[in-house]
Amino acid sequence: MPSDVIAIDGPSASGKSTVARRVAARLGRLYVDSGALYRGITWRTLEEGRDPAVPAETLAVLQNLPVEFFVADGAVRFRIGGYEPVAEIRGERVNERVSEVAAVPEVRVQATAWLRAMADKGPLVMEGRDIGTVVFPDARFKFYLDASPEERARRRQGELTGTDVSRVMASLQTRDRRDSGRSTAPLRVASDARAVDTTGLSIDEVVDQIVASIEDHQAGV
Ligand code: CDP
Repeated sequence: MPSDVIAIDGPSASGKSTVARRVAARLGRLYVDSGALYRGITWRTLEEGRDPAVPAETLAVLQNLPVEFFVADGAVRFRIGGYEPVAEIRGERVNERVSEVAAVPEVRVQATAWLRAMADKGPLVMEGRDIGTVVFPDARFKFYLDASPEERARRRQGELTGTDVSRVMASLQTRDRRDSGRSTAPLRVASDARAVDTTGLSIDEVVDQIVASIEDHQAGV
């Protein structure tokens, strides 16, 4: 039996989060933002005054990480030390360091184990970089979303205030380079994933394409 997971992977600001959340709501599945977990580990490392450039420092934090997972509003979410970091994990401080933390193999092993365990909570829509390739290689459905670098920078800038597009684009490109270039679980398209170029498409158009593709498959079209 394949894992009852819809995997949605892709680079930064490709529209994954919004699309995955809406696909989950449409299909009555739980939504999981795997990037939030890497961001949470990064945030906690910084909070504890450790340097994420030194893997041993991140691993010391990871070893005793008081993390708990819970379901709320149709999503699997987490608290660290009894607190749910929401705004904190989206800030520039975390943006700049998260790819370093996510490149540490032991961090990936632990995060992957936590993400896999979430399948016990029900059918999932999980978004990330390596969900279809590493976390759930047997996922029932796999999608890979992408968009042009300009469009991705414009989208991300729309979520931030007071930052110019060229700076946003540079920051996304640095992260994409790290995510694609790392040796453990780099960002790549799973051979059996359906690639969707979202440039010029609205969120609803992308959601409709994904839901239609799943329904066609289930109907044996
Ligand atoms: O919001 P955005 O698409 O920019 O990023 P995210 O999905 O929140 O992921 C933040 C970072 O976590 C990525 O740049 C990766 O370094 C890392 N990540 C990962 O390595 N593997 C995943 N499955 C998800 C995120």
